[in-house]
Amino acid sequence: MRIEVNTEPLHRQQSEAIVVPLFEEEQRAGRPWQGVDRALSGIISAILKSGEFKPTANATSVLHAPKPLPAERVVLLGLGKKDKVTPRTVCEAFGAAVKEVRKLKRKSIATFVPEASPAGDLASAIVEGTRLGQYEFVRYQTEKKDELPSVEHLIIAAGDVRQARRIESAARTGQIKAESVAFARDLQNLPGNELTPVHLADAADALASEVGLSCEVWDENDIARWGMHTILAVGQGSKNPPRIIILRHEPRRADVPTVMLVGKGITFDSGGISIKPGQGMEEMKMDMSGAATVIGAMKGIAQMKLPVRVWGIIPAAENMPGGNALKPGDIIKTYSGKTVEVTNTDAEGRLVLCDALAYAAEQKPDAILDLATLTGACIIALGHVAAGMMGNNDTLMDQIRVAADRTGDRVWPLPMWEEYNELVKSHVADLNNAGPSRIAGTICGAKFLEPFVGDIPWAHLDIAGTAWGATDTPTTPKNLGAGWGVRLLLQFLKEYKK
Ligand code: BES
Ligand code: ZN
Ligand code: ZN
Repeated sequence: MRIEVNTEPLHRQQSEAIVVPLFEEEQRAGRPWQGVDRALSGIISAILKSGEFKPTANATSVLHAPKPLPAERVVLLGLGKKDKVTPRTVCEAFGAAVKEVRKLKRKSIATFVPEASPAGDLASAIVEGTRLGQYEFVRYQTEKKDELPSVEHLIIAAGDVRQARRIESAARTGQIKAESVAFARDLQNLPGNELTPVHLADAADALASEVGLSCEVWDENDIARWGMHTILAVGQGSKNPPRIIILRHEPRRADVPTVMLVGKGITFDSGGISIKPGQGMEEMKMDMSGAATVIGAMKGIAQMKLPVRVWGIIPAAENMPGGNALKPGDIIKTYSGKTVEVTNTDAEGRLVLCDALAYAAEQKPDAILDLATLTGACIIALGHVAAGMMGNNDTLMDQIRVAADRTGDRVWPLPMWEEYNELVKSHVADLNNAGPSRIAGTICGAKFLEPFVGDIPWAHLDIAGTAWGATDTPTTPKNLGAGWGVRLLLQFLKEYKK
């Protein structure tokens, strides 16, 4: 999608459709769209005044545009109440607008940035919404339904040259963010037969050469040599061998903080010998969503040239019940030296993560964040609205919460009180991987991981409920990957101070 920012008034823009974003309170012609209203003989303000169109969030209404407007259609777009507007609501609204424009078979949009703070974020949100509102995953559909044309050109009209410059830079970031989210979604949506750990490593490697990251991939022999036995253990029931993928963003400046991002990369989770019920098991191709988020974020980090040293570490494996599979009761020695009794092979995420986290902690970074579709219990606790956040450092978690609220990838804290430590102890090893059934399941996951990061500031995001689209919204399709957390990570890292 080509993006253009110029200072022509909206009614003179050479585009096939004009999108007029409106707050619910608006009744009189606002300056950016006065010319459009005039060209339509005051119809827009009349419709608003009469209440025939109420600009509630994501509402749209289509008008035919008469000459002399170069555009053929005008789309009125509701943004909801002005005091409730956030970058995410604007993003969603533009997702709704672009869907409408595609239905009209128009391929270009002219619009403007609504007046609310923070203006830069809103320009970025317009671009994100226009791109992600068009996201689809059709590569396996050989009988294409009536395809709608894509909107290929987005023009943003600015009031003056200074504003245009600001919008241009925000729009560029918006495009990077949107493409990073789309990249993560594509990885999530690939089926398990295609996206094996090896394929995931290839995808990360190809991305690295494209955007200027370095990429290291360890095969099963390397992993064994490193002593990362939990990752081997999870992978040993499958014919598709595990991999460890490390993407590195290394700014030239030395005086920058270091952050490690760790993403759960289970390319398919059958549960292993503690096999899952068949119903809905197909969704477990998305159990590499944490990895997808980290890889998608790494793309954005490189392209935004963020002044932070960032490593993206992905333990990737397929959890299968093959003849050599890990069994309940097995005891594994982890990379850190601690031993783990496997009481449930379906709690495989924390197994692959514990070795990756111990390795991350060994690098002595300023912070470690991990993202994982770790527990079904997190969906029970928070639904599909927020990720569960746990960790060992309140300052770090505060920084993440601020970035989460700002981007709309929301997080909510769960406690890590000492009393929960009992739940992950084992009578034969140092830890057990599953905890008692139906008791604080999400916290047990985090409590299991906690000892592996030592005293490095760490936050764990359980994204089981947010990674996958549960309902259709204008920018996140149902039953497909949501790319959740990519924008959160980019926002967090942009503001990160140790
Ligand atoms: N990948 C699942 C968690 C999950 C469930 C993610 C539903 C997304 C949607 C994870 O590996 C798992 O199976 N966890 C178990 C842990 C239990 C055995 C301690 C769970 O949640 O039941
Ligand atoms: Zn599992
Ligand atoms: Zn899993």
